[in-house]
Amino acid sequence: MKIETVVKEMNGARSSLDQTSIDKIRGDFPILGLQVSGKPLVYLDNAASSQMPQQVIDRIVRYQKEEHSNIHRAVHYLSELATSEFEAARVKVQHFLNAKESREIIFTRGTTEAINLVMHGYGRAFIGKGDEIILSGLEHHANIVPWQMLAEEKGAVIRVIPMNDAGELLVDKYEALFTAKTKFLALTHVSNALGTVNPVKAMVAFAHKHGVPVLLDGAQAAPHQVLDVQDLNCDFYAFSGHKMCGPTGIGVLYGKAHLLEKMQPYQGGGDMILSVTFEKTIYNVIPSKFEAGTPPIMAAIALGAAIDYLGRIGLDNIAAYEHELLDYATMRVAALPGVRIIGTAAKKAAVLSFEIKGVHPHDVGTILNSEGIAIRTGHHCAQPVMQRFCVPATARASFAFYNTKQEIDKLVDGIRKVQEMFS
Ligand SMILES: Cc1ncc(COP(=O)(O)O)c(C=O)c1O
Repeated sequence: MKIETVVKEMNGARSSLDQTSIDKIRGDFPILGLQVSGKPLVYLDNAASSQMPQQVIDRIVRYQKEEHSNIHRAVHYLSELATSEFEAARVKVQHFLNAKESREIIFTRGTTEAINLVMHGYGRAFIGKGDEIILSGLEHHANIVPWQMLAEEKGAVIRVIPMNDAGELLVDKYEALFTAKTKFLALTHVSNALGTVNPVKAMVAFAHKHGVPVLLDGAQAAPHQVLDVQDLNCDFYAFSGHKMCGPTGIGVLYGKAHLLEKMQPYQGGGDMILSVTFEKTIYNVIPSKFEAGTPPIMAAIALGAAIDYLGRIGLDNIAAYEHELLDYATMRVAALPGVRIIGTAAKKAAVLSFEIKGVHPHDVGTILNSEGIAIRTGHHCAQPVMQRFCVPATARASFAFYNTKQEIDKLVDGIRKVQEMFS
């Protein structure tokens, strides 16, 4: 199917989350009851890190009070319990992604570590001098810098998919980048700076026609939509727990088993070996081969609880409700004179980047903070995106399913206040 057709066919579903459901959901998040600068907190920085519901907090407390031990190492009660809960979390992630097998799920510290793992384990083994790696102009630094490090080490070349003024990747330019030297595509599923949702399924299919494996950076997709790595047919998929109601310090790399099996381990140490002598080490099977040392056990179990929580609400309900929020925010902010929305792709998720004429984004963030409103200002670890739009930084409001239209109204009032102060 042509990529343009896929983009047109995306979305449009209505949310089944009514006001009562949202009120109930908000009650699950203790932090949303905070006062900041003497005002009720309006948390619109979810793309950086989302908040944690009581159900996940309770799971962490239960683990620490009743289940904690090191895993995979002992036969005592606590070790066996912690091991089985840790491995159950891996199965929850498997189902969350619709991966074929749980051994295709590797726990990492986050998206960044997952991408670095692929760069070391796959890139260093299979990408060489003169080979080409395709990235997009929308990438977060986490999906740029590791590939630049590899390119520098190996003498490989980075090629970049450009975008139009709406922040959509240019499909014809993408397809023209492929040559006999193309060895890898690393692409964000959803842009953290602009919210653009890339037509990744069609892009993966095109890369595969050229025999090129694909890593998708799903950091901004995993919290916002139903995922199916078998349907996407990507070779690797990375995301972070802390952006989807889980804790920091945990992330996931999904990889197709046959690729993970032929990759070199990323780190050496305990648990990733079958046997060690001073002459030779035999590595463990996947996923253990990539999980050297004591993993973030509590965080993985808490991620499992976060997946359960999101699953109870329903990722399709979440996606539809967040689209309503994004549409409402876009309509209200676009109507403000002197405000430019940056990133106007036809298909977007949960992110509204903007600039206010004559005001530095950091001043916008500071004044909004005095109203209790948390947004992100800066380059969002996506400096090439800022360069593309000729801005040093943007103000970014990013939404989660616990946000409301009333909070967006407060954001709009806050923007008006900023404009008054600078008029
Ligand atoms: C698209 C994208 N990729 C990668 C990352 C890095 O995630 P982490 O810092 O959790 O490793 C982020 C974080 O904002 C992101 O938005």
